[in-house]
Amino acid sequence: MKRIGVLTGGGDAAGMNAALRAVTRTAWSHGIEVLGINRGWEGLAEADARVMGPGSVSGILHLGGTILRTFRYPEFAEDKGTAKVGKALKKLRLDGMVVIGGDGSFRGADKLERVFGLPVVGVPATIDNDIAGTDMAIGYDTALNIAVDAVDKIRDTASSHGRIFVIEVMGRDYGLLAVQTAMACGAEEVLIPEMPYDVDAVCKTIEAGYKKGKYHALIIVAEGAGKASYVTFEINNRLQREARMVVLGHVQRGGAPSAFDRILATRLGHHAAELLVSGEHGVMVGLVSSRLKTSPLVKRGGPDLKALRLAYEMQQLLA
Ligand code: F6P
Repeated sequence: MKRIGVLTGGGDAAGMNAALRAVTRTAWSHGIEVLGINRGWEGLAEADARVMGPGSVSGILHLGGTILRTFRYPEFAEDKGTAKVGKALKKLRLDGMVVIGGDGSFRGADKLERVFGLPVVGVPATIDNDIAGTDMAIGYDTALNIAVDAVDKIRDTASSHGRIFVIEVMGRDYGLLAVQTAMACGAEEVLIPEMPYDVDAVCKTIEAGYKKGKYHALIIVAEGAGKASYVTFEINNRLQREARMVVLGHVQRGGAPSAFDRILATRLGHHAAELLVSGEHGVMVGLVSSRLKTSPLVKRGGPDLKALRLAYEMQQLLA
């Protein structure tokens, strides 16, 4: 193996740069050249790459986002996009690749293996933490801490004014970020895509809280559970109290990675490069019960719904 590529795909996640650094320096320690693919899958289709030396990843460990940048490229699912990627791979003369991203990127990685015979190892990174085969994806811890910090701040002003706040957090198809934010902040209610909810019951919970002597109500809504604006509107309609809405949005994706994410990204990036060099590929690296584990790139099943349900029930019990 003489030359490998490294690519960041899907939504950016804090810690991607730390993973990139670990992959690059590990490969170099084996005398392998590293090409950083710019602009994710779109950049790969255009053979847009730069040489990454140990020095070019200096000073990025603590940076949010991804210095390689990332673009969504749905064309790779079609024949035209696939042909472009094939042509680019010939030009780049890669012997292997590390793909840092979520499930969508791993489907792309699997295609590189199956269609072009390129050895690939995946590194999970997404703030949704919805990837089977790892307890934690890079970026989740940072996003959770950002959400908790924001909700703590909102609580101060909510309490001062006796207001209800409906706070939308990210998480398209998986409500873990919302549930754990609610747990960490002692929110009155959490609405997630996996659990049905009705606004009347939410209003009853809010009123019960005020009757118990609370000065505010915090309702956390996962992006995938429905619009926070609808929930806020309905609460304002039904209760004689003021409800306000805050959408945390992409704030959760930016900023410096937490210490946990830096270390996780470093361990996973290093392990991914070591595996590729040793000839193991077609796998994703993950952290399961504090140990590094590999699992297939695809066909791993969905996110852990049992753990989500348990966390949800605990949140409801203690609210
Ligand atoms: O997958 C990560 C994520 O942040 C989701 O929580 C969110 O729904 C989505 O990406 C937003 O993607 P984009 O920034 O492309 O709109």
